Amino acid sequence: MAKVPQTEPLLNRRSTDDAQVKTEVKGWTLKHLVGLEHISRDEMEMVLDAAPQFLAVQQRESGIKKVPLLQGRLVVNLFLEPSTRTRVSFELAAKRLSADTLTMSASGSSVTKGESLHDTLATIEAMHTDIIVIRHAFAGAPDILAERHPSHIINAGDGYHEHPTQGLLDAFTMRRHIRKLRDDPEAGLDGVRVAIIGDIAHSRVARSNVWGLTKLGASVVLCGPTTLMPMAAKQLGVDTTSNLREAMDGADVVYALRMQTERQANSLFPSIREYIRLFRVDGESLKAAPEHALIMHPGPMNRDIELASDIADGPRSVVLEQVSNGVAIRMAVMHLLVNASRANA
Ligand code: CP
Repeated sequence: MAKVPQTEPLLNRRSTDDAQVKTEVKGWTLKHLVGLEHISRDEMEMVLDAAPQFLAVQQRESGIKKVPLLQGRLVVNLFLEPSTRTRVSFELAAKRLSADTLTMSASGSSVTKGESLHDTLATIEAMHTDIIVIRHAFAGAPDILAERHPSHIINAGDGYHEHPTQGLLDAFTMRRHIRKLRDDPEAGLDGVRVAIIGDIAHSRVARSNVWGLTKLGASVVLCGPTTLMPMAAKQLGVDTTSNLREAMDGADVVYALRMQTERQANSLFPSIREYIRLFRVDGESLKAAPEHALIMHPGPMNRDIELASDIADGPRSVVLEQVSNGVAIRMAVMHLLVNASRANA
């Protein structure tokens, strides 16, 4: 783990607006967030526990929807693959923390002229960045950058590998609903059953969710066509099935994944019609799930393929709540990486 340099006590910068924002977090030492596979349950819970105060900042009806926790810091979003939710969410989260922000994509940058990723990062860092948020097509790119670059690196999705802030915002959304369902403000995800359905093989969201949710005590079943199930799925410590109704049986959360046709070199299932018949989350297939089961999807959604429109827009769906919670989770992550890791170094 790279050593974090000591800086001035940013945590002391408060305004009356921040009165309810608890800025001190004991025990956080991570400098980067590259994945959920190797972070501890305690670290995950520190993020989940820090997020509600940032959700409250966003929901302020009067006053400024901002806190100065990253004032004077520079956050660069380097998105070398397409994104709507994650890119906008990180940018908004940084602005809500009062950071300066820059967003770069592959098109229009010198990446298209053959510049190496290290050179691109070194060039950006010469402008004194604090956080670099990166989305990249190659699995492991954020880990390599974190080893060599002084900025805090946050993985916003690397190939099929990980999407850690998606995993955290999903766990946060599940935990909020489980707490309401059980009428227990302290409830965690221990014993919660999550069915993740669809194109598991190409999904970084599935991997981060599996690593994150199992660490938090949930049990996970992965369900999809065998051609879209990774060979090593069983080694992840989860159940697997190709029977949708079996997966839904007893599930507290039904999580549909996007069919990632752009990552499939060959057709990996007979037809979209066949996929819909066997794997779509819709009113009919949901009869196999408990009535309280939450419906989730990371977006972007192929409407009526992996998830029926009436279910996506219905009362059990928390798809848009996932998006709102994402900003709070990303505020929490950036605050912890910059402020808590320095304070605790
Ligand atoms: N969930 C997710 O990563 O969406 P985007 O690709 O739009 O960022």
